[in-house]
Amino acid sequence: MKLTWLGHASWLIETGSHRILLDPFFTDNPAAQQTPDGLGEIDHILVSHGHFDHVADVAAIAKRCQAKVVANFEVAQWFSAHQGVEDTLGMNIGGGVDLPFGRVTMTFAVHSSSLPDGSYGGTAAGFLLTCEEKRIYFACDTALFSDMEWIGDKGIDVAVLPIGDLFTMGPADSIEAIKLINPRYVLPTHYGTWPPIEQDAEKWAQQVREATRAEPRVLAVDASFEC
Ligand code: NI
Ligand code: MN
Repeated sequence: MKLTWLGHASWLIETGSHRILLDPFFTDNPAAQQTPDGLGEIDHILVSHGHFDHVADVAAIAKRCQAKVVANFEVAQWFSAHQGVEDTLGMNIGGGVDLPFGRVTMTFAVHSSSLPDGSYGGTAAGFLLTCEEKRIYFACDTALFSDMEWIGDKGIDVAVLPIGDLFTMGPADSIEAIKLINPRYVLPTHYGTWPPIEQDAEKWAQQVREATRAEPRVLAVDASFEC
């Protein structure tokens, strides 16, 4: 399984023959090096919530690739009704679904979720993926919350946590999150895109090594981690 950071909160997940995107945001993203047309074939797109920096390029890629868009019920409906996406799967917090590449469970996140046109975007979420016998937890946009310990009880191989601060938890709270989740590896996300969420990721990694049992992996944009 291969995880590639595409900048901001966008990830490419490759497992078996499947290529899955999480929260693709390239258009008007100063940190992105990809374009919506430049990623090749994608079969599923996971969307954590309705904010523009998570939904920006979903519809264009879904239409180009006939990809299935997986999101909370309200966001999935919005893509279907207003963005012309044909294949959507709406779910909600605590629900899981078996997809061709593995199991996807929608986890709680402490965040908001309006859509760019002001539509109601339901509840912000994270995703727990189980594929190739590995468990990958994408916390997505969230504050630190104590139920992360319960998510970690399942045994997490890789946790992907926001460290940008301002809109999500920052570096200090992410350290607390890592202690609760106790993953084998931890990857930072949702930082460095704009000055308000600039962070020193190497300094964060040093703090992770000193304070937790997790192994931090800081990726450059478009770099990959294999697990
Ligand atoms: Ni957000
Ligand atoms: Mn965001």
